[in-house]
Amino acid sequence: MSARNLFAGVVALTFLAAVQTDAQARGNAERGKQKAEQVCAACHAVGGDWNKPLQPEYPRIAGQHYDYLVTALMAYKQGDKSLVGRKNAIMAGQVTALSKQDIEDLSAFFAAMPGSLSMRR
Ligand code: HEC
Repeated sequence: MSARNLFAGVVALTFLAAVQTDAQARGNAERGKQKAEQVCAACHAVGGDWNKPLQPEYPRIAGQHYDYLVTALMAYKQGDKSLVGRKNAIMAGQVTALSKQDIEDLSAFFAAMPGSLSMRR
């Protein structure tokens, strides 16, 4: 790694640390990775590529914002019982067994991933 890249890395990390919110600090991306590879990859990552879902109508989630992912997954857990709930038979089956902590871990893993869904500065 060149000194210039190292410097850019340090600057980027310092900036990230400064803008990281409480919410982002809660999930554990390492734990999320294990669960994601066991459970979610079958539909959201063909050949281990998280930017390649199994079907065109299956969404990409790599690089999506942490808060967005937590909100979406909690909404599938709620089903259509409230205005913010989301009803989807496939995802409802995926999230019933997940705890809030699991959802935060998974979200931390996906949010840290490269992808075109959110802007990287
Ligand atoms: C059997 C296939 C399948 C599996 C396994 C699966 N998903 Fe999904 N996922 C889907 C489908 C289909 C949708 C679109 C549902 C809809 O239209 O609301 C979706 C939607 C999502 C969304 C919403 C994306 C957005 O932009 O709104 C998230 C987040 C998500 N899945 C995360 C996960 C996580 C985390 C796991 C593992 C715990 C997982 N999925 C496992 C098929 C799957």
